Amino acid sequence: MAEPKPAGAGHDTPADQGRRDFIFIAAGSAAAVGAGATAWPFIGQMNPAADTLALSTTEVDLSAVEVGQQIKVMWQGRPVFVRHRTQTEIAAALRDDYATLKDPQKDEDRIKQSDGAAGKPEWLILQANCTHLGCVPLPSFDPGYRGAFGGWFCPCHGSDFDTSGRIRRGPAPINLLVAPFVYMNDTTIRIG
Ligand code: FES
Repeated sequence: MAEPKPAGAGHDTPADQGRRDFIFIAAGSAAAVGAGATAWPFIGQMNPAADTLALSTTEVDLSAVEVGQQIKVMWQGRPVFVRHRTQTEIAAALRDDYATLKDPQKDEDRIKQSDGAAGKPEWLILQANCTHLGCVPLPSFDPGYRGAFGGWFCPCHGSDFDTSGRIRRGPAPINLLVAPFVYMNDTTIRIG
């Protein structure tokens, strides 16, 4: 099944696509995303009417996303990464708070909810478009993908993001943007 892509996305080769397992689930569904740690399922959140699209929010059932797994959801027509980080990734993100960063930002600020409340270190919610030219980067945490910092890698011009989604190398001028979200309960977030 082909993945809908935003304008500018164009990295995927047939081999890339073959590595992923795209699963489309209607809005409101809490169905489990059955996939291994290296799979990259896709949840398409269908909005009720086109004229409400601009104001829409997207709810995501986190219980379906295993540790080490990422899903991609659509929010207002744009892709958002929902990453369930491992303890190793969290430790790397905290360590790299003290690295030389092009766009300095602490990891704890990148997991915060949009109302300013603290986040949960295991959940990173990012707008999925590279801040260079808008491509959707590939996961560096999956075996076989490039990238030196364990987060995401944009192969067109080599922007390399760490486990907090911060730009570490390449032309992207700023970090991957954190999507606005709040926790509705322990296992559900609302994006937007
Ligand atoms: S769009 Fe990502 S490096 Fe250019």
